[in-house]
Amino acid sequence: MVDLDAFVRALPKAELHLHLEGSVTPAMAGRLARRHRVEMPGAGLGETLDLRQAFPFVDFAGFLRLYLAIARCLQQAGDFAEIAEDLGRRLHEQGVGYAEVTFTPALHRSRGIDDAMMIEGLVAGRRAVLERHDVLLRWVFDVVRIFPEQAEPTLAFALAMERVDPGATVGLGLAGPEDRPHDVAPLVEAFARARAEGLRSLPHAGELAGPERIWEALRKLGADRIGHGVRCLDDPALVEFLREREVPLEVCPSSNVCLGVCGSIAEHPLPRIMEAGVAVSLGSDDPPLFGTDLVQEYLRVAEAFGWGPPRLRALAAASIEHAFMPAERATSMRAALAAIPDPE
Ligand code: ADE
Ligand code: ZN
Repeated sequence: MVDLDAFVRALPKAELHLHLEGSVTPAMAGRLARRHRVEMPGAGLGETLDLRQAFPFVDFAGFLRLYLAIARCLQQAGDFAEIAEDLGRRLHEQGVGYAEVTFTPALHRSRGIDDAMMIEGLVAGRRAVLERHDVLLRWVFDVVRIFPEQAEPTLAFALAMERVDPGATVGLGLAGPEDRPHDVAPLVEAFARARAEGLRSLPHAGELAGPERIWEALRKLGADRIGHGVRCLDDPALVEFLREREVPLEVCPSSNVCLGVCGSIAEHPLPRIMEAGVAVSLGSDDPPLFGTDLVQEYLRVAEAFGWGPPRLRALAAASIEHAFMPAERATSMRAALAAIPDPE
């Protein structure tokens, strides 16, 4: 019997679709909620807090409510550092040597948390993760679609972070509900300026809405990769564009099942996307909220599609190639990957 779990864990991997706020575990959220006396939906307050009741949700609105409740638990620079450090430890335990982690400044600004406090916490957290776990984090600062006026302040946050911690920011992101109308003009301008500053364009698109949002991300925002993008198959011309221009998708199967994008992992379009020649890497999105982690994502697709070690190794290799990481780390991760033997 092949021990795929140990094999996947040992493969050096890059995690390219992961939200910092969405990576807070129930245990950590409980600690923070008690510390700051924050009420969690359906879970009470303080001593009575039971987050096992809070974490299940049935739709995107319930998911967002939980997401906002977790955000409210983050009140001091040390809280941001602590959740980053906790995430880094879990990434290390999964064989992840590099991660591009999305953080949403507007989510906290709107609660009165100032940029300097968030930056202080993230800088300390990123440093601790590198020193203690040898995991390199780079940040994607994302705009929420329904607040396009936050595009400029989010870009300003990204550039301020770069001044304090050079190399810490990898790009500008875009998330939130995709299926509601919004004004793209402020987004277009901010993404163009971000790219001119050397940052990458890393929007979510084609998750909760169809190909037109992916086209918009490509044509108007100059997307370097697409977060999710799994609805691309609805448009053959789009599939051809993604394949030819080699724009990778960050595919998060468990997230897609939990948010109703597809019915089950077995029905997930991942194999069809790969057969069409579109580049992919696996991501865990908001792992504790979706009852997963990156190792589980590899194992779940392996089981659903009958994929063995060569396919899983190729997915790990693709994650390294699609990452925007410093050349030295990519070189060492490639060498470490080549040194992992196939399981007996
Ligand atoms: N924010 C965090 N996770 C998200 C997702 N899967 N889709 C849109 N916005 C998000
Ligand atoms: Zn996401």
